[in-house]
Amino acid sequence: MPKAQILAGTADTVARASQYLRAGQLVALPTETVYGLAGHALNKEAVTNIFRVKGRPLIDPLIVHIAHWEQLEALTSAQPEAARLLAKAFWPGPLTMILPKAESVPELVTAGNPTVALRMPAHPLARSILQASGLPLAAPSANPFGYISPTTAQHVADSLGERIAWIVDGGPCERGLESTIVDVSGEKPRLLRPGPIPPEAIASALGIDSIAVATKSEREDIPVEAPGMLTRHYSPRTDMTLIPCGQLPPPARGGQAAWLALSRASAQNAPRGYARYWLSETGNLDEAAAALFSLLRKLDSQGLDHLYVEEPAKTGVGLALADRLQRAASR
Ligand code: TXA
Ligand code: MG
Repeated sequence: MPKAQILAGTADTVARASQYLRAGQLVALPTETVYGLAGHALNKEAVTNIFRVKGRPLIDPLIVHIAHWEQLEALTSAQPEAARLLAKAFWPGPLTMILPKAESVPELVTAGNPTVALRMPAHPLARSILQASGLPLAAPSANPFGYISPTTAQHVADSLGERIAWIVDGGPCERGLESTIVDVSGEKPRLLRPGPIPPEAIASALGIDSIAVATKSEREDIPVEAPGMLTRHYSPRTDMTLIPCGQLPPPARGGQAAWLALSRASAQNAPRGYARYWLSETGNLDEAAAALFSLLRKLDSQGLDHLYVEEPAKTGVGLALADRLQRAASR
């Protein structure tokens, strides 16, 4: 396979990418959350290649990306009221919904589940390619299975550049964390994966007090067939420890250690001997989310002996940030 070509986000690129996708090839493309590795969702060869390129187990289902509500109707066997409410409030945007699947969706995409995950992304290039191709696009995050999700075209090239041909460059992802996943296929909507849209906002759009959170064994990242297998996810190679918000890392013990804080002020309070980094100047959690994966990749390439990271309080988008940090730190 040739080295991947990074294509600038022009109208010509949109046309070329659409053509490759219609021909069953894979194209990495930007979304507002993270970069995705896209392929024609109804083409089994394309979908098989997505799993192969990522090294992803076939038991882990893919999200299908769409541009219009009519595509949701074509890919699902029922459209619950909750889906309409959430689509109205958050689509296009960083929300994925789990719905009962239509016959037309290959079992390969849903890993044999009777449900399908659908998302209408907001990134203008993703939207243009979805519209120009007219296809539903299966797209997991464009990283090798288990590693940190990519938030720039260069991240994709760094880890999958030898295995794919095309990467569309849409600049750094605005949100930086994978979409919020809500299961609306059952009687009560449930949060499967925290993301950029906080649970409080989901509940409010649904007109309920709070949204139920799926138990650990039901969570999106732990297929029933492989309990516990995927708790470690989004993982850097560097040894990483979380420190509760507002506290500081222990005195340096020698070796190369870094402190990744939520704000500049907290970074500067580190004990002597630490290299200091911060996710947001002021500790703004949306900014921290957008910066997280990029900084983790950078720090992971520095051969540190230890990385301490400040964990935010679990409200609003802090819930998703803490979730990704806990997985990254788990061994
Ligand atoms: O922001 C995002 O969601 C990005 C961008 C590219 O759209 N995509 C993404 O895909 O994060 P991926 O494959 O890395 O994560 C998709 C998650 C997986 O954990 C998978 O288990 C879950 O969605 N999922 C997919 N279909 C499902 C289903 N039918 N039921 C439950 N979980 C499902
Ligand atoms: Mg992923």
